[in-house]
Amino acid sequence: MTDASNQEITWELFERQVESCDRCALCRQIRHKVPGQGDRNAPLMLIGEGPGQQEDEQGLAFVGAAGQLLTRMLAAISLPRERVYICNIVKCRPPYNRVPTEAEAEACLMHLRMQTWLVRPKVIVLLGSTAAKTLLNPNIRITRERGLWTERKGVWMLPTYHPSALLRDETKKPQAWQDMQALRDKLREQGLYPDLYGA
Ligand code: URA
Repeated sequence: MTDASNQEITWELFERQVESCDRCALCRQIRHKVPGQGDRNAPLMLIGEGPGQQEDEQGLAFVGAAGQLLTRMLAAISLPRERVYICNIVKCRPPYNRVPTEAEAEACLMHLRMQTWLVRPKVIVLLGSTAAKTLLNPNIRITRERGLWTERKGVWMLPTYHPSALLRDETKKPQAWQDMQALRDKLREQGLYPDLYGA
């Protein structure tokens, strides 16, 4: 497969494309781009909103408080974080951690599309409203539609609360735990991670 300029799509092209991107103004105020990281062959991809301060400083996705909670949530379903691929809708930190605008999300989508094409996940977890609105339905209400699976072109997608929302409001945690259990059941049903969940 090739991109619009007929170059073969590779991780190297993806990295170069993100690093040189100035399709929106977010890149003017950042320290590092945050393309995403993890197992590039993972059957499971998790997509958040955008980098926060820690992520901006380190150039890595989900390394701050929300990221640490996410690591614990994955561990709770026996999934080591290194076995999944983690990234965000926007690759540059929005100032003061504001929600990225629709135009910023749209401008960054080409990177996520390339990334998804390269990883080829079988299951995608959408962490929070920005990811769910951008990738599933612009009118989605995360409180109402979290936990509901959608299948698109053979890929199962699950919207759930963003870990930052769980840090702000602990009463959401039981529902988030339900979603993690549903995720584990889907991974098992689909025969993914057989060494963890059985064939
Ligand atoms: N919140 C996100 O959505 N992504 C990160 O990488 C960190 C915090």
